[in-house]
Formats: sequence, C-alpha cells, structure tokens
Amino acid sequence: MAWVSEKSRNKIPYTTIDGTHDDRSAYNPSGTEADGINWWTNGFWGGMMWQMYHDTGDEKYKDIAVISEAKLDRCFEEFYGLHHDVGFMWLLTSVANFKLTRNPESRKRALHAATLLAGRFNPAGGFIRAWNDLDEGDTRGWAIIDCMFNIPLLYWATDETGDPRFKQIAMTHADTAMTAFVRPDGSVNHIVEFDPYQGGVVRTYGGQGYEEGSSWTRGQTWAMYGFMMSYKHTGKSEYLDTAKRIAHYFIANIPEDGVIPVDFRQPPEPKREDDTAAAIAACGLIEIANVIETYDKSIYLKAALKLLKALEQRSDWSERSDAIVQRGSAAYRAALHHQPIIYGDYFLIEAAFKLKGDGLYLW
Ligand code: GLY
Repeated sequence: MAWVSEKSRNKIPYTTIDGTHDDRSAYNPSGTEADGINWWTNGFWGGMMWQMYHDTGDEKYKDIAVISEAKLDRCFEEFYGLHHDVGFMWLLTSVANFKLTRNPESRKRALHAATLLAGRFNPAGGFIRAWNDLDEGDTRGWAIIDCMFNIPLLYWATDETGDPRFKQIAMTHADTAMTAFVRPDGSVNHIVEFDPYQGGVVRTYGGQGYEEGSSWTRGQTWAMYGFMMSYKHTGKSEYLDTAKRIAHYFIANIPEDGVIPVDFRQPPEPKREDDTAAAIAACGLIEIANVIETYDKSIYLKAALKLLKALEQRSDWSERSDAIVQRGSAAYRAALHHQPIIYGDYFLIEAAFKLKGDGLYLW
C-alpha cells in the first residue's frame, strides 16, 4: 500500500488500465455527470487511506485521504449529478476524517451529504430513491439494495446531531427493504420499483444480475452486510435475523473452490466471476460471527476464511498492478469482466483488519 498510495496520491481510482490506476476525478470534469466526480465509488480510495492511517499512524495516508475528500466538494457545488450513493462517498471520507481527527469541516460535509440522502426519501413508499432519471427512464419509484450501505450515513447523522429524523428514515427504508427485496429463501432482488405516489411494489428488475428473479452476488452482499450494519446501529433483532438468513443462502451457494460468480443463478457458461463480491461477503460474515456467542459463530467465520483464502491466491500482490484484487465484474452484462475495481481492494483491506481484531469501523 505504501508505494501505490504515493503513486496514486492525487487520483481517485476506480479501476486500472494496463496495471495503472485510472482517475475518476479527472473524468467528465463538468461535475454534472454521474460517472465522473460524482461516481459512486469515489469514497473508497479515501477509505483505504483512512484504514491504513488508523492501522499504521503514518500521516502520509491521512494527507492522501484528505486530497480526495476535498475533491468531492465539487459534487456539492454542482448538485445535479448526485444520487443515493452519497453514503458510500462521504462515510469513507468525511465521516472517517471526523471520527479520527474531529475536523469540523468534515463534519459539515458529512451532514450536508446526510441531508441530501434524507431528501431522497419517499414517505408514501417508505424508501429512498436510488437514481435520478438520466438515461434510464422514469426512476422516481426505484430503490436498490445497495442503499443498505448508504443509510449508515443517516444513523451517523442522528448520533451526531441528536435529531431522530435521519435514523427514522434509515429504519423505514430498512424495514421496506426487508419485505420488498429479501425473498423467503434468503436471496435478494437488486431493483424494486414502487409506486412513487401511493407506495407498494410495482415490479422488480434483475439490475446488474443475470435476469429478473436471479441472484446478483454483489447485491446479496450489500444486503447481508447492510442489514448487519442496521442491526449494529439500532439493535433491532429482525435486522440481524435478516442478515443471517441472507448469509445462510450465500454460504449454501459458495462453490467448492470459493470463487464467487457474478450471479448465483447465471448459466454455467460463459464463466463470469466477481471477486469483489467475495471480499464484501467476507466482511459481512465476520461481522455476523462477531455478534454470535454460540458454536454457530464458526459457520460464518469458516465461510469468510474460505472466501479470503481463494481471494489471496487470485490476487496480484506485486508492483505490476496498482490493484490487488484482479477479477471484479461490475455487472453480468457489463462490457468488461474480471477487472480490478477499487471496492475489491477496499473490502479486502477491511476484512484483513477485521481479522486482526483492530479494524476501523466506518459504516
Ligand atoms: N452499487 C453499485 C454496484 O455495486 O455496482
């Protein structure tokens, strides 16, 4: 990490090109597009730096994290490119900074982001709207399972300000997600469309998975670890039960070799894998194991270790690549597969620090 953090010091990487990090902060510089400075993954690089700073105490990592946090201010200025992923973006940058340094500017940024997220709440449907219309058609009623990782920003805002509204919105969204996204077998929908005027489910979509009704693996992990996060913030036992139900489904579907497909219900060919899902799942499984006191603990821990061992063997630990995790897939129907994606590295690092027992909890 030491060499690559210096090498990519002024970037906000998403993937690599010929082994070198790209830079989303230089991409689509207008600031109004969702895939440039507003890209949902733009907090992960800062988050990695804060994890390293917390572990090593080396100021170099803090300085690099602060560079990407400041760059994200352009999103607030432009406003139009933003979406529900303000949680992914500012929990790992400004909330992390505030937790570790008490920087008042970071607190202000994080509260600003939380307010934007709360403003996306639809009271009739009890959900947080995911995306703006952009090119996708009418998305006023769309919510996606990934939002379970954004709502911890709302829990943080209530803890920080004492205003219960943020937490009320987060819990209403989580309650809706428990019934509308999670299926009885523990698998999870990616996208649910609600009636934005009356509430109620209109239909579901396969989203980044294979098809409607399938089981996009990264979506399963956003749900499993996401409900665990809501349990940690609220103590509501139904959230833990839901995280465990999703975990049981996930564990039952882990292939013998520990390599996770893009979708548990995809056809056997072409072979499409997503190592980022393995890294996120490992984090969620370790968190579940951490709150279980019976011998069942080992079920979750053993599954996490199996995923991490497979990941360790498939990753590039050399200086040939700026990324460690090499075989991520953004979506089943993405143009590219088996490429490094920044959150693969972030969650691998988070999992490693969790196993060490002294990780920095940023969600
Ligand atoms: N949150 C979008 C994704 O997982 O690709």
